[in-house]
Amino acid sequence: MMNRNISLTINSKPVTLTADVRQSLLEVLREHGYTSVKEGCGVGECGACTVLVDDVPLDSCLYLAVWADGRSVRTVEGETKHGRLSEVQQAYLDTGAVQCGFCTPGLIMASTAFVEKYKDREKVSRTEIRRAHAGNLCRCTGYEGIIRAVEQCLKVEEDEDTYNECRVTNDE
Ligand code: FES
Ligand code: FES
Repeated sequence: MMNRNISLTINSKPVTLTADVRQSLLEVLREHGYTSVKEGCGVGECGACTVLVDDVPLDSCLYLAVWADGRSVRTVEGETKHGRLSEVQQAYLDTGAVQCGFCTPGLIMASTAFVEKYKDREKVSRTEIRRAHAGNLCRCTGYEGIIRAVEQCLKVEEDEDTYNECRVTNDE
């Protein structure tokens, strides 16, 4: 064992943890009760382990816990504030973007990063939304509800072009 102390914030709370230098952030978060962070593939393919580090979504299975020293980490546990779902969580419910739920915490964090980045932009295309979620696999929903949830948060109007673009993307 080669342990090191790391100080970081998790969901805005300052914490100091001890982690083996070989441990992934995924493992350490789960060991400390952040079990929304799921292990799907463990090799950077599925996105179930997505968290935000300094507000950037990444696969925590490929990210060493010691790299998070001094950084801010966000998981879905921190998105519900004072009993109120975040805008993205609520939109996922409204659009039926959740089925079995295994992919959902990672997808919500990917969507949250996207919505925060583009909330002031006038126009966001479905291709951009799809690309931003390309690293997150969902075996249940077919992605339509997920995309509509992001569009709901960004107040994107559905129009003919949007559907055409979606169809083209699906056919690629
Ligand atoms: S568990 Fe990390 S990408 Fe699949
Ligand atoms: S809701 Fe089941 S894998 Fe996405």
